[in-house]
Amino acid sequence: MIRILRSAEPFVKEEEVARQQPFVSAAHTLLHEKCGAGYDFLGWLDLPERLIGDEFARIQAAAGRIRWQATLLVVVGIGGSYLGAKAALRMLEHSFRDLLPVQKQSLKVVFAGHHMSSTYLADLLDILDDHEVAVNVISKSGTTTEPALAFRVLREYMERRYGKVEAARRIYATTDAAHGALLELAKEAGYERFVIPDDVGGRYSVLTPVGLLPIAAAGGDTAAIASGARRAQAELATDDLQSNPAYQYATLRKILLQKGKRIELFVNYEPGFHDFGEWWKQLYGESEGKDHTGIFPAAADFSTDLHSLGQYVQEGARTLFATTLCVHSTRRSLTIAREDHDGDGLNYLAGRSFQDVNDTAQAATVLAHTEGGVPNVVLEVENMDAEALGYLFYFFEKSCAMSGYLLGVNPFDQPGVESYKKNMFALLGKPGYEELRARLTQTQSN
Ligand code: PA5
Repeated sequence: MIRILRSAEPFVKEEEVARQQPFVSAAHTLLHEKCGAGYDFLGWLDLPERLIGDEFARIQAAAGRIRWQATLLVVVGIGGSYLGAKAALRMLEHSFRDLLPVQKQSLKVVFAGHHMSSTYLADLLDILDDHEVAVNVISKSGTTTEPALAFRVLREYMERRYGKVEAARRIYATTDAAHGALLELAKEAGYERFVIPDDVGGRYSVLTPVGLLPIAAAGGDTAAIASGARRAQAELATDDLQSNPAYQYATLRKILLQKGKRIELFVNYEPGFHDFGEWWKQLYGESEGKDHTGIFPAAADFSTDLHSLGQYVQEGARTLFATTLCVHSTRRSLTIAREDHDGDGLNYLAGRSFQDVNDTAQAATVLAHTEGGVPNVVLEVENMDAEALGYLFYFFEKSCAMSGYLLGVNPFDQPGVESYKKNMFALLGKPGYEELRARLTQTQSN
C-alpha cells in the first residue's frame, strides 16, 4: 500500500542502505522481543489485530450515541491526544464539509485544549448555544494543563446548559485505566469512559479510543482504518530491508542524518494531508529529539509553500532533505477544458487532469531540489481512503520506532516535554514548586 518511489538518490546509494541490514535486524529484535529502551510502551505494535471485539463495538455504539445526541462534538486534548483524529478527519472528509447542505454533513467536530488561548475558547463558547453539544475529553495522564483547563470551562458550560445528569450523558472521557485527575472526575460524574492502554504512549495512540472515538463519531470508517492498520502490521513484520518499506525509510533517514541532513521537510501535494503532517511532526519530533541528536521534523504543503519556502529549500543552508508523501489515485478528479479563445494561454494543458499537472509539479520540484543539493525521498500511498490511512498510521509508527532505535535513543519517552511544564507550574504558583519558583523568579530579575 506504500511504495518508495525515490530513495534519496544520488545522495544515498543502494549499497549504503543494504549495509544497514545488520543494524536493522538488531533493532527489529529489540522491538519484537520487547527488550529495547522503552520496551513497556510497545503495545501499539500489535494494536491493529486487537481492533475487534467488545471495546471496538463500544466505540461504535458511543459514536452512534454522540451523533444522535449532538450536532457538534468538542474534542479536548493535546499532542497525541488530538493530532491523530484531526489528521484523519482532514484527510477523509470533504474539503468544504461544513459548507455542504445540512443533510450531507455529518456531525461537526472542533478541537479544544490544545493551547491556552482565551480568545479561541471564548469564541468557541459563543457558538456552542447554536448546537447540540457533546464533549470527548482525552488525556492519558489526566493531568495535562491545557486540556484540563479547557475541560473545566466546557464542563461548567455543559452542566449549566444541560444540568448535571444530562451533561454527564454527553461527556465521554478517554484516559488511563487507573490513574489521573480526569479518571477521578469521570468516575465521580459517571461519564462513559474509554481506556488508553498502559503500554501505548500518547503519540502512538491514534488506533486506540483516543483516535477512533472522534473519528467514528464524525462518520469515519474505523473498520476500514483498522483493516488498513492490520494489513500494515502483517506486511511490515519482516526485518528484511528489501521487503519492508517502513524500515527502508528509517534507514534512509539514518544515513541522511549521518551525512549532515538535520532537517526533514515532510511534504504533501494534497491539502487533505496537512494535518497528517502535523501528526507526523509530533511522532518523529518527540520520539527522536533527545540526547542532543535527532532530525528536526518540519512539514510543508506544496505547491502552496513552494511560493513561500521554495526559495529556501532550493538555495538555503544545505542541511535539509525532503520526504514527499504522494497519492497514486486522488479521491476526486478534474480535467482541464479547452477554450476557443486561449486568453490565459493554458490550452497546452487541455485534456489533462489536475492530478497529472500536480504530479508533474512534484516531479519537477524533486528534480530541482535534488539538483540544488536536497535529497528527496518519495513515498506513494495508493489513495486517500480510510484503509490507506490506517496503513499510513502504522507505517510511520513502525518506521519511527525503528528510526529511534537506529539512532540509539528511546523513541517512546519524552523527558524534555517536562521542562517547560515544571517551569510553568512554578511560575503559576502550583503547590510543590516553591523552590523552583524562587530560582526562576531570581533568574528572571537578573
Ligand atoms: O506523546 C505523548 O505522550 C504526548 O505528546 C502526549 O500525547 C501529550 O503530552 C498529551 O498528554 P496527555 O494525553 O497525558 O494529556
